[in-house]
Amino acid sequence: MNRKRIAVTGGLGYIGSHTVVALHEAGYTPVIVDDLRNSNADVLERLGGICGAPLEYYAADCGDVQALAALFDTPLHGAIHFAADKSVGESVSSPEKYFANNLGAMARWVEALRLHRVAHVVFSSSCTVYGEPSSLPVDESAPMQDATSPYGYTKQAGEQLLRYAHAAAQSANHGSSSPAFGVVLLRYFNPIGAHPSAQIGELPLGTPANLVPYLTQAAAGLRSELVVFGNDYPTADGTCVRDYLHVCDLAEAHVAALQHLERKPGDLDVFNLGSGDGHSVLEVIRSFETATGTTVPHRFGPRRAGDVVAVYATADKAAKILNWRTKRSLDQALEDAWRWQKSLK
Ligand code: UFG
Repeated sequence: MNRKRIAVTGGLGYIGSHTVVALHEAGYTPVIVDDLRNSNADVLERLGGICGAPLEYYAADCGDVQALAALFDTPLHGAIHFAADKSVGESVSSPEKYFANNLGAMARWVEALRLHRVAHVVFSSSCTVYGEPSSLPVDESAPMQDATSPYGYTKQAGEQLLRYAHAAAQSANHGSSSPAFGVVLLRYFNPIGAHPSAQIGELPLGTPANLVPYLTQAAAGLRSELVVFGNDYPTADGTCVRDYLHVCDLAEAHVAALQHLERKPGDLDVFNLGSGDGHSVLEVIRSFETATGTTVPHRFGPRRAGDVVAVYATADKAAKILNWRTKRSLDQALEDAWRWQKSLK
């Protein structure tokens, strides 16, 4: 089989590692670029175990193109760009770090991709680009709002960088037979869960900022209780509503995006990736308790600064054009998150 090499920057991180598995299952050859700044070297070995063979790996910052010279010696069919810092709170206190890593390094990486004529590029963006949407569910035509954090700004700017790079490639390519430069921007809603093998999952460093890792740590007794940030929002039960999707579903969407670019070389498009359903924080707690039979100690606390009240997707465009939709339920995601948490003890 002619296996196609796909560079996965941030391939040892949470969503990246699950995407490496999905690429392997779909017959691609994932090549990991990850400098371990926010991931663990064990993940490489675990991925080799799941995929049945060691994976090609570069321990480098994706912006360090000199260190990555050998990566381009064999042609790359595509690249999926995950590598980024992702803490909203940290980005507020260290904006320079977010601009340098999420945009500076990304710009050098995209330049290298164009130089080496990599034809298919998929970018990890976020529903954060929509801010507080004026109507729900939110579709891809909803206007971007002013970013509420440097992190959110870097996602908007990363999308824009790829739009400009795509336009530059189109005009440079005009009339030439070299491969087109296609780009898919993927706006994730809230990925949760873990691979059902419990070999890979989310490894938050320090105190988790996100709901599900905090919830599973509280259920495991590693945290005294989960604090629900606000119960006076204008929602059915007063807690915020989000669109949670299983990380394995999200990983498969990246394969669908690559396949789309293979069908339409040189395309530029953007897709929401969500389940299409909104769930409140209390619903997530109740679903976890029912699915796992484990109690989550929790109490209500004040609202968290910067939280939007409710955001959930319409993922109809991804269903129609990428032939992708979520297959796994909220309960399944929470069961897998729990299995992963228990494996960490
Ligand atoms: N929550 C709690 N307690 C916690 C943690 C979270 O009640 O200890 C609540 C939040 O207030 C929110 C919901 O759980 O209502 C989900 O919070 P997360 O932090 O898990 O996720 P967010 O929706 O805030 O953030 C996610 C991504 C960000 C991205 C953002 C865009 O983690 O990277 O969506 O909306 F920027």
